[in-house]
Amino acid sequence: MAHLTTRGFHHITMVSTNASRTLAFYQDLLGLALVKKTVNFDDPGAYHLYFSDRSGVPGTILTFFEWPRSRRGFWGVGGVHHLALGTSDEQTQLMWKRRLTDAGVQVTGPLDRGYFKSLYFTDPDGQILEIATQGPGYSVDEPSEALGSKLVTPPAERLPEGRDEAAIEARTHPEPVPEVTEAMRLDGIHHISALTDDLDRAGDFLENALGLRLVKRTFNQDDGKTKHYFWAHYDGQEVAPHSAFTLFDWAGSTHRARPGAGQTHHIAFRARGGEEQEAWRDHRPGLGIEVTPVLDRTYFRSIYFRAPDGLLMEIATDGPGFAVDEPASELGSALKLPAWLEERRTQIEQALVPLAAR
Ligand SMILES: [Fe+2]
Ligand SMILES: [Fe+2]
Repeated sequence: MAHLTTRGFHHITMVSTNASRTLAFYQDLLGLALVKKTVNFDDPGAYHLYFSDRSGVPGTILTFFEWPRSRRGFWGVGGVHHLALGTSDEQTQLMWKRRLTDAGVQVTGPLDRGYFKSLYFTDPDGQILEIATQGPGYSVDEPSEALGSKLVTPPAERLPEGRDEAAIEARTHPEPVPEVTEAMRLDGIHHISALTDDLDRAGDFLENALGLRLVKRTFNQDDGKTKHYFWAHYDGQEVAPHSAFTLFDWAGSTHRARPGAGQTHHIAFRARGGEEQEAWRDHRPGLGIEVTPVLDRTYFRSIYFRAPDGLLMEIATDGPGFAVDEPASELGSALKLPAWLEERRTQIEQALVPLAAR
């Protein structure tokens, strides 16, 4: 009864306490492009920055609300644990390790997760980030046409007791990496991992409400005991890029996520267009959740709802996209406001601290 089969993520929105610091980290260090500089439409005193690879297409978009006085959040049930960004292979991943380490960022890994290799670090507000290789993919331990059909026990060498931590720590690129090369360019959202207190209920929701499919059932390779399941857009042969959502099973846990700085505010999935979004919204009563009206976000149209474990989710349309109010070649260069906030532009601009000046 899936009324929507989302093709994957549209964007992820996180919380920053300092927009300039966030800009320096994601643009200068991670090499993403600032594709839109605007304000939070629900709170116009706050910056809303959009980053992407240069394309600005759904699945590659990271956004930040700047809330300077936000308390520190922490992860837990109903929250995101980490965001993984894609890199092409192990070589570019090691280049990322060297680049980040040289910039004073503490990096863990690369760890072999079987389906990909992973580097972990945090952004300046404490958001946990991962850089994951594209391959080898989910079909390494079950046939590509039968993903998710068995419970996979990770081999001992991938678990903490089987790892050579000193060798992992020592591995890096031999030369400094002062520039983000074309080959290194991060390919948007590789996966997003969250925490749930009820894996079955969460899975039913992802499958019935979003049309995602279970593609891997395994265990957390950092403890070997916690179930770790993966859902994605899967056509029975391939897992679509920018679509993997994973859940750690904290069955019955009362350790709830606390929203705030360094935490994910919400995650957004794609709808092709307004018609699909409206149809989805009309059918929601069947799932027992409340959904907002359709909100015009200028670059896409959005509806919001909460997953059963509390995670705030959005369904956003693919269009009209970021070139709707500035030329594609100048994305992110000027402060853009929706028409209904233009009359307050002077006041809004005065209240925002210029990004370059801090
Ligand atoms: Fe991950
Ligand atoms: Fe959003």
